[in-house]
Amino acid sequence: MKEELKEVVLSLQNELKDCTKEADILNVKSKYLGKKSTLNSYLASLKDMTVEEKKVNGPLLNQIKKEIEKLVEDRLEEIVNQEIISFDETLPVDYEMGSLHPITIVSKEITDIMRRMGFTIVSGPEMESDYYNFEALNVPKDHPARDMQDTYYLDNGMVLRTQTSDNQIHAMENYGAPLRICAPGRVFRNEDLDANHENTFFQIEGMVIDKEISIENLLYVMQNILKEVMKQEVNLRLRPGYFPFTEPSYEIDMECLICGGVGCPTCKNSGYIEMVGSGMIHPNVLKSGGIDPEKYTGFAFGIGLTRLAMMKYKISDVRILNSGDLRYLKQFEIN
Ligand code: DAH
Repeated sequence: MKEELKEVVLSLQNELKDCTKEADILNVKSKYLGKKSTLNSYLASLKDMTVEEKKVNGPLLNQIKKEIEKLVEDRLEEIVNQEIISFDETLPVDYEMGSLHPITIVSKEITDIMRRMGFTIVSGPEMESDYYNFEALNVPKDHPARDMQDTYYLDNGMVLRTQTSDNQIHAMENYGAPLRICAPGRVFRNEDLDANHENTFFQIEGMVIDKEISIENLLYVMQNILKEVMKQEVNLRLRPGYFPFTEPSYEIDMECLICGGVGCPTCKNSGYIEMVGSGMIHPNVLKSGGIDPEKYTGFAFGIGLTRLAMMKYKISDVRILNSGDLRYLKQFEIN
C-alpha cells in the first residue's frame, strides 16, 4: 500500500504542475481526494482490517491525505497569485456608460430652479416617526385623513414616510422663520400596483414662511417651476382641495402634455393631470414647528415628482421607473 500511495503522490505532483487555472486544480483535487479516489478506497477499507493493520495503515493514510491536501493548497495559492499578477489593467474593458434616471434628472432640474429662487435644499429620513409624518402636520391618530395615505407601519413603531411633508416640521424646528425650503425624496404607500400606481414614488416638497405671504406667491412659484422643467408654457388649473396641513388647500392640475388637453388615457380623458397639492400652511402646523402664526404665514406644496417625470418623458407606465430595466432607462439624456 505504501508504494502505491507514493505513486499516487507522484502522479498528483505531475498533474498539479500542468494546472494553469483555479478550475484545473479543483478537478485534480476531486480526483485525488474525492469519493472515487484511490486514497478514499483505502480509507474505506480500513474498517475491514485487523487491529494491527489499522495501527500501521491508519496513521499512514492520514499522513498521505494531509500531504495531498497541502500539495493542492500550495499549488492553488501559486496559481491564484499568478492570475492576480498577470491581470493586465491596460487591456480595454467592455463597459457601458450609465445614464441618469429620469427621476434624478427632473429632481435635479427642480432643485436647481428652486435654489435660484432662494430655496434651501433639505432632506429627511425615509423611516419616519408617526409624529413628523402625521401628528405634527395636524393629522392626529384617529383622523379620517389618514385613510388618504395607506401607510406601511413598521414593527419598531415608525412608518415609511407617506409624504415629503415631514420635512416641513424638521425644517421649522431646525431653522425657524423666515424660511424657504425644498425637499425632494422618496415616499411609500401601500398601493395596488398598476400603470398609474406604485408603492414607492417621489415627491418634492416646497415651503415658504415669511411675513405677508399669500396664495399669489404660491401660484407664481408653481408656474415658474413647471414652465422651466417642461421647457414650454404650461397651463395650470387651481381647484379647491383638502389637506389637513393647509387651510385653504388647493390641487394644482397641469394641462395634459400628452394629448394637449383634449383627453387621453393618461389624463383619464379629463385633459388635466393632478400634479401638486398645496395651500396656505395651517396655523397648527406652524405651531408644531415652533413658529408664531400671528407673526408669520406661509405656503407649502408637494409636487408629484414621479408623475412629472412621466409627463416630461411621456412614460405611460409608472412601473418602468422602478424596474431597473436598462433597455428603457438608458435612453434618457445625461444632464
Ligand atoms: N403631502 C401631500 C400628499 O402627499 C401633498 C401636499 C399637499 C403637500 C399640500 C403640501 C401641501 O405641502 O401643502 O398628498
